[in-house]
Amino acid sequence: MSEYANLLFEVEQGIGVVSINRPKALNALNGATIHELDDLFTKLATDSSVKVVILTGSGEKSFVAGADITEMQNMSAMEGRNWGKVAQAVFNKIENLPQPVIAAVNGYALGGGCELAMACDIRIASEQAKFGQPEVSLGIPPGFGGTQRLPRLVGKGRAKELLFCGDMIDAAEAYRIGLVNQVVGAEELMNAAKAMAGKIITRAPLAVKVCKAAVNEGLDIDLESGMAYEAEVFGLCFATEDQKVGMRAFVEKRKPNFCEK
Ligand code: CAA
Repeated sequence: MSEYANLLFEVEQGIGVVSINRPKALNALNGATIHELDDLFTKLATDSSVKVVILTGSGEKSFVAGADITEMQNMSAMEGRNWGKVAQAVFNKIENLPQPVIAAVNGYALGGGCELAMACDIRIASEQAKFGQPEVSLGIPPGFGGTQRLPRLVGKGRAKELLFCGDMIDAAEAYRIGLVNQVVGAEELMNAAKAMAGKIITRAPLAVKVCKAAVNEGLDIDLESGMAYEAEVFGLCFATEDQKVGMRAFVEKRKPNFCEK
């Protein structure tokens, strides 16, 4: 039995699959689910048996249909602020997890669900996925990072249209504007996510982690500082066994067998 009431978690061949599991509420994020995500991703950060994480929603209809509206309905301004801060911290933890995180978006990714998908490194959507930030229809703006991550992913103009109109877009449109990396048939979704995870696992783990950290660090600082960061981590990787293994394998025309965690 899972140690979580609202999450399912399993590890297979180095791939950790996290499923948000509140099907009766279309996997909406209540406080308990956010708390469980915090606990699980804190543990995953130091779990060397998990090389790549896939985040998805249970059932066929929904990835995550947003923050739980029934729970938010009577919140005060102070409670709303704290709720946003707590969830933002958890999404930041997911974004900055050392290992790559792939969102397998199987259905509705609305409000907090779209924000959760955006906190992941890569998004693969099923053809039936729907994306949107409908918060303005509820009298609030997005509060789990949507006003910040959406423009960084799709640009200011497109982000503002989605935020101001609150409309849903389908997977093809999400792909067209750069919100998702790939769209596949519903029955192919987990295979596609696992295939990408499996490919990443064959690459040098530390180099992958360094790529993730460099992109995340670099996007929030000026280019010169980002380049300086890159030069440091580039240099440091020459002190790893994986650099020797990878380059020796290339020169000897064979596949590398990486060893660093
Ligand atoms: N919170 C709480 N419960 C939710 C929910 C949510 N975000 N989304 C769906 N549910 C519940 C419904 O209340 C319903 O429960 P009951 O069966 O007990 O009535 C159940 O899930 C099934 O939903 P529907 O009957 O509405 O299903 P549908 O197929 O007709 O519609 C939907 C699906 C279009 C996704 C619709 O459920 C919907 O619009 N949901 C809300 C989407 C939304 O506004 N999300 C943003 C929330 S605010 C937010 O996320 C703020 C932030 O930035 C963090």
